[in-house]
Amino acid sequence: MTTPKKLFIKTYGCQMNVYDSERMAEALGGQGYVETKTPDDADMILLNTCHIREKAAEKVYSELGRFKGLKAENPDLKIGVAGCVAQAEGQEIMRRQPMVDLVVGPQSYHRLPEMEAKTRAGEKALETDFPEEDKFERLKNRPKAQRGPTAFLTVQEGCDKFCAFCVVPYTRGAEVSRPAARIVDEARDLVERGVREITLLGQNVNAYHGAGPDGSDYTLAKLIWDLDKVDGLERIRFTTSHPNDMTDELIEAHGTCSKLMPYLHLPVQSGSDRILKRMNRSHTAESYLRLIERIREARPDILMSGDFIVGFPEESDADFQDTLDLVEEVNYGYAYSFKYSTRPGTPAAERAQVDPAVADDRLQRLQALITRQQRAIQDGMVGRTVSVLFEKPGRLPGQMGGKSEYLHAVHVADARVERGDIAKVRIIGAESNSLAGELL
Ligand code: SAH
Ligand code: SF4
Ligand code: F3S
Repeated sequence: MTTPKKLFIKTYGCQMNVYDSERMAEALGGQGYVETKTPDDADMILLNTCHIREKAAEKVYSELGRFKGLKAENPDLKIGVAGCVAQAEGQEIMRRQPMVDLVVGPQSYHRLPEMEAKTRAGEKALETDFPEEDKFERLKNRPKAQRGPTAFLTVQEGCDKFCAFCVVPYTRGAEVSRPAARIVDEARDLVERGVREITLLGQNVNAYHGAGPDGSDYTLAKLIWDLDKVDGLERIRFTTSHPNDMTDELIEAHGTCSKLMPYLHLPVQSGSDRILKRMNRSHTAESYLRLIERIREARPDILMSGDFIVGFPEESDADFQDTLDLVEEVNYGYAYSFKYSTRPGTPAAERAQVDPAVADDRLQRLQALITRQQRAIQDGMVGRTVSVLFEKPGRLPGQMGGKSEYLHAVHVADARVERGDIAKVRIIGAESNSLAGELL
């Protein structure tokens, strides 16, 4: 019997990369690989990378530098770079780090098995094409292993929006949606393996337009209703949405589909119409606020989450104040804010940049406001009853932790709860990053 080869995958960036890493591990499973938790004993190291901000992209090279010693010790070790840096930089990665054996962009993961074989033959392997096929169909090589209670499922990939700051349309390509039937099959399979909550993923997930059962274009709302019928699937989430693709039927589903969780991540990026226009966002602060009003009419307790960029080229103090005002008005349960990072090849890279010290100061002020809102909402949960899907033991012995329908981390100290249970919990305390509760 041959001993299995060991694969170490490190994942950066967004949830789609997490999903892709799982798919790659399964595909290489067919080549005799099992996953290992440390690079030290690996036969192959794969970095699944992110290109969204400069820091994320540069991390790859410092990480690769650290593997030099391992490669010297074990000349058979193969090193691969996947993900959005692979797509953006391609061959350049091998030029900067000659010890890299394999570079594969997100649209070429179905080629991994043959690429791995190539590296075993001592050759370099590079694939950054955008082929016209469903890579996930070709990646179906799933061992029927048991899974945890939550899973990601990619339904749509790529972006046609071209925000002026963003690399995603270049690294992930044009919007492509998977056929609904394949998604429902995959969801059923996940449920059979223990999954109770599925988060549908897409760079613009609400622009989903895959083929429906009769072959014509489907919508995300229709797909959600199909998944609602899957027995054993208890919770549905989706991310990330674009404000312009929040249709009436999707808003309505938030009010009527009981499996659809009351949490919505809806990035707006800025509260200034002038900046939104320069960002090519094609919505205004006002249209975003009215949209949230309608979503809250459909589902009054929905928890809103957002993304913000501060220090976008030409952002003035007044523009930034508009962002603070918008945040005040929305009242976010969660929000992620980033300092603008210049990305080569994007339109905004050519424009007058904001003084980094000014941007730093704005980021701090925005984050302070967001933290205040987040805390107030968490504190307001005390005394309320939520439903928790338990995922794993908590930090302290005897604790079990999970997520409420609002995506708050909740822990209880109760021996009766098991991983995968969904239970009603009364919140009895709010800590900085989680809520304490007791079973009802
Ligand atoms: N498709 C999603 C996610 C895009 S990336 C969306 O439309 O929101 C996630 C977040 O990273 C973005 O929402 C944005 O806030 C941030 N981001 C993207 N490009 C950036 C850049 N060049 N500098 C700083 N933040 C950026
Ligand atoms: Fe990037 Fe904008 Fe597309 Fe989101 S919508 S992935 S921010 S270009
Ligand atoms: Fe990063 Fe690519 Fe995701 S750039 S955020 S890993 S789509």
